[in-house]
Amino acid sequence: MARVAIFLAVVAFTFLCFEEVNGVTQPGSCRLVCDPFQSQSGTHDLGANGVVIPLGASGGGPPGPAGPPGKAGPPGLPGPKGEPSITRGAVAFYAALKNDFSKEDVLKFSNVVTNLGGRYDSSTGTFTCQSAGVYHFSYNIVKTGVSLRADLVLNDNKIVASAVAVDALHTDTASNSAVLQLRAGDRVYVRLNKSDSTLKDTHNLFSTFSGHLLYEL
Ligand SMILES: *[C@@H]1O[C@H](CO)[C@@H](O)[C@H](O)[C@H]1NC(C)=O
Repeated sequence: MARVAIFLAVVAFTFLCFEEVNGVTQPGSCRLVCDPFQSQSGTHDLGANGVVIPLGASGGGPPGPAGPPGKAGPPGLPGPKGEPSITRGAVAFYAALKNDFSKEDVLKFSNVVTNLGGRYDSSTGTFTCQSAGVYHFSYNIVKTGVSLRADLVLNDNKIVASAVAVDALHTDTASNSAVLQLRAGDRVYVRLNKSDSTLKDTHNLFSTFSGHLLYEL
């Protein structure tokens, strides 16, 4: 019994000293243990270390204000390479002869392979300029007769390039090219001059006419 009395005295003395050191009266040490799991009975359990308050049981206060925005993230990876816009403003055509012509015919290259911008008309063999600019044209005409002369003609009256094929014994090609500064409405085609027939060319692409816009002005 004496030992118990001494022990209680020591505990009481320690408690008094603790009060003096802090200067304020402590209500005592109490621990709240919050249990994230609702107890089966729904009542508050007395845990080993204090009162267990199930989190779901209390109503909880209103949500707090939103926090400040976070830091910006690192820059993203570069995107996929885009396709160049080839049809916007593009003017380019390429067509081949499917029928033979002779004498003073305007050549109608009716096998149209390329016609970006739609400025080449295969029913007349004529390219019509819509956008003023500098254009490049070329043509290659294969003959079957003795001689052939083919001119690149601007607006029905001006020859801007000429080509001849006069090998009497063999297949021969008349070809030339030109760079022309055109205004809107100008027309360009290939015309024969007192020629024997061109090579009828249904399946191959021997005789061709092509042109494209170099610079818009
Ligand atoms: C045909 O060629 C001759 C020269 O060989 C030329 O004098 C004549 O003007 C040309 N005809 C046409 C319609 O271009």
